Amino acid sequence: MKNIVFIGFMATGKTSVAKKVAEILRKKYVSTDKMIIEKSGKSIPKIFEENGESFFRKIEKEVVREVSNMCDTVIDCGGGVVLDKDNVKVLKENGIIFLLQATPETIFQRSLKEKGIRPLLGTNYSIKNIEELLSKRTPYYLEAADYVIDTTDKGVEEVANKVIEIIGGKIEYYNKKE
Ligand code: S3P
Repeated sequence: MKNIVFIGFMATGKTSVAKKVAEILRKKYVSTDKMIIEKSGKSIPKIFEENGESFFRKIEKEVVREVSNMCDTVIDCGGGVVLDKDNVKVLKENGIIFLLQATPETIFQRSLKEKGIRPLLGTNYSIKNIEELLSKRTPYYLEAADYVIDTTDKGVEEVANKVIEIIGGKIEYYNKKE
């Protein structure tokens, strides 16, 4: 069975939904961010601060290759994974790609709870910052996605069940490349 891959902007629900899907389907769950932290022995803000974003992207690329070689696994990707074409290519070879989306307001509210863990949002971030980065990123996300699901106003379980229905072929073209 192919991998189930989650992509999307920060705080769109990738981690919660990916974990829930893995739990319901009893599949293995992996997170690229977690693997980067394990590999480098540092938190993500520390890597950005001490080694810079390009170093982070280098390790991220290695990790993406590693997870793409897995099978039957639920893969939770960091929000910037799709910026690299090779990453998208290898993930697609062995996976179905779900893009999770949310409004900038929702992203802002959700990420407030975890302030400081996302260096690209900074510490004094605003809805405007999120909107700017999101509009730059959106073409990359849409290009990579097989399916698109909006998570605004939806619970984790609801989104996870939608993913499972899609995989099971119960909804043939639900929101495909909307
Ligand atoms: C990033 C998203 C983060 C993490 C890093 C960079 C991005 O992951 O990989 O802070 O470039 O969008 P989440 O999307 O899980 O927050």
